[in-house]
Amino acid sequence: MTNAAALDFDHVELLIGTVENAADANAKAVRNTVLSPRFYTTDFDAMDKLNVEPVRAEWDTMMKEYEGDNNHDHFQRDAAFAEEVRVLMPQLSPEMRQEFLDFLISSLTSEFSGCILYNEVRKHVKNPDIKQLMTFMARDESRHAGFINQSLRDFDLGIDLGQLKRTKSYTFFKPKFIFYATYLSEKIGYARYITIYRQLEKNPDKRFHPIFRWFERWCNDEFRHGESFALIMRAHPELLRGVNLLWIRFFILAVYATMYVRDHTRPLLHEAMGFESTEYDYEVFRITSDIARQVFPVEVDIDHPVFRAGMTHLVELSIANAKAKERGGVMGLIGRASTALQAVYTFGRLYLLPVKKNELPADIRMQPTW
Ligand SMILES: [Fe+2]
Ligand SMILES: [Fe+2]
Repeated sequence: MTNAAALDFDHVELLIGTVENAADANAKAVRNTVLSPRFYTTDFDAMDKLNVEPVRAEWDTMMKEYEGDNNHDHFQRDAAFAEEVRVLMPQLSPEMRQEFLDFLISSLTSEFSGCILYNEVRKHVKNPDIKQLMTFMARDESRHAGFINQSLRDFDLGIDLGQLKRTKSYTFFKPKFIFYATYLSEKIGYARYITIYRQLEKNPDKRFHPIFRWFERWCNDEFRHGESFALIMRAHPELLRGVNLLWIRFFILAVYATMYVRDHTRPLLHEAMGFESTEYDYEVFRITSDIARQVFPVEVDIDHPVFRAGMTHLVELSIANAKAKERGGVMGLIGRASTALQAVYTFGRLYLLPVKKNELPADIRMQPTW
């Protein structure tokens, strides 16, 4: 397997920027780039018309799980947490500290993005099933975001969530695009957290921050959020056939490529956990692709050599683009335009690769057994 583009820290710094104070941290959360998590809004009337009757039995079981709220007491820091922060954080190198802060800020932004979207849908719909689901998911995401924010505050870098909600721009997605994108990001979120948790369970000496001890029960929330969107999509099978298969392909690839490029801006973070970014990402892709068979009739071939080479190339192009941006002037502009075009071309090649086909299972629900 080829290692994605050799990244030295100058490249990392170009790509992720540095956070020195709370103003930088807040600015980073507000900024929208190709790689940063976004905030979404949607067509609430269409959300109101969703009908989950075709999956009623599975839906009701899932609602009972949400009601049971087995993580209600989970997001509390214990005494050991503060002690570990006090001992471990001064040991981080400045470079590692930047990558870890980038990880915390982007994780917080995507948790909070879910919180806002689910809350807005909750407020705007009357449909009792959708309203109830959104209430539960917003509850979970708000806990997740708050818990990460406490860790940022340890660095005096807390994000003002009210301000972020007011100032970050929103991207409109039709409901079906919300389902594809959010389903994937919930399941990827699960796969990312569980992969880190299992790795650090085996290698506790590499657990450089206590927050990772929380990831196992945490990621079960994300898994369940993904299950909810799987049920909604399976209740509306027209979303899973015809031209929509092309959209599903597009979203899988877009979500995978974004994650891959973004993760390759944090080589030290993965190294500290005993991973290599490429290896970590392919493990996350594998878990996500396995899970997504519950709902998507098509699957991207993550082992295809052209897929792997294309992902590596996207990382190289994003470094070249950041360098051109730093260079500035006309040459910088030409460089940025050229790398952007090449990235579109590379993405197009990946999109045209043959996909694998899946027969959807009769039982939709899955258990988080990874
Ligand atoms: Fe979450
Ligand atoms: Fe979630």
